[in-house]
Amino acid sequence: MEILGNNKHKIIYGDVIESLNEIENNSIDLIFADPPYNIGKDFNGRKDKWKTEEDYLNWCYKWLDLCIEKLSDKGSFYVMTATQYMPFFDIYLRSKINIMSRIVWYYDSSGVQAKKYYGSMYEPILYCVKDKNNYTFNAKDILVEAKTGAKRKLIDYRKSVPSIYNTEKVPGNVWEFPRVRYRMEEYEKHPTQKPISLLNRIIKASSNKGDVVLDPFSGSFTTCFVAKELGRKSIGIEIQEDYIKIGLRRLGLASQYNGQTLEKETRTFEINKEDNLSLIQPTLFNNYNNGTLIHSKY
Ligand SMILES: C[S@@+](CC[C@H](N)C(=O)[O-])C[C@H]1O[C@@H](n2cnc3c(N)ncnc32)[C@H](O)[C@@H]1O
Repeated sequence: MEILGNNKHKIIYGDVIESLNEIENNSIDLIFADPPYNIGKDFNGRKDKWKTEEDYLNWCYKWLDLCIEKLSDKGSFYVMTATQYMPFFDIYLRSKINIMSRIVWYYDSSGVQAKKYYGSMYEPILYCVKDKNNYTFNAKDILVEAKTGAKRKLIDYRKSVPSIYNTEKVPGNVWEFPRVRYRMEEYEKHPTQKPISLLNRIIKASSNKGDVVLDPFSGSFTTCFVAKELGRKSIGIEIQEDYIKIGLRRLGLASQYNGQTLEKETRTFEINKEDNLSLIQPTLFNNYNNGTLIHSKY
């Protein structure tokens, strides 16, 4: 296990159980946990597949318990897993912590998900707090447009003084954010990178400036990156060196690691863009004839 970073932003390069054990109990304000889903994804050579479902769940129960231990008394915990495992998490957690919302993160997909059943177009998120009478929820910071009633200028007769519907509201438990795609600016080389927009809502709602945000499965370090942008402190745990390098770079914690310069990998379309430019420029130049551009293919 190796601890990198500074007082505000720490990266722990190691196994989740071992690393969580290093963190002080009751010290974390917000945890976002997005573990491997036991669905066979390839995390840089480390297969996300346990021998049995029971093995997977027993491993999850260990870090779930540790996360609760690390959470401060007013802390919040968001946890994800595959749709088929979320019911087990829900049942396991409900006697240990207060489950406040069962969130569905929905996304559209232009690709075919499945042909003989209904393909998965969402991922579940459990939102829990330690003390339901004392927790951070900055509703005003995450308001979304209230479409129907306000747009149609309908009157809400349920109010003591009937008035037009509000133009903004606290989001419900179905969230639509696009997944991170290869051509998006925020893209990093990680198979299950979560979008900045998703973490933006969670961190703004459930923490304040200066609070400590922990991500025990940091991957591309979106959580820690957004925490930093929003003036929170962060701790990110990750077991794969390549993802640690992404974290160090994304958080501006180092420009080199183990003698290697940390740079964002150039994407194929960016390479092509440079190639095209070098192809196009001489072509244009060569085809200028008395100031008139002659269109021609190279
Ligand atoms: C679903 S991904 C997290 C993605 C992340 N939320 C993001 O936005 O990029 C799970 C991550 O957990 C890491 N991981 C798997 N087993 C681990 C373990 N035992 N300890 C620490 N990290 C682990 C994987 O390398 C992978 O990057």
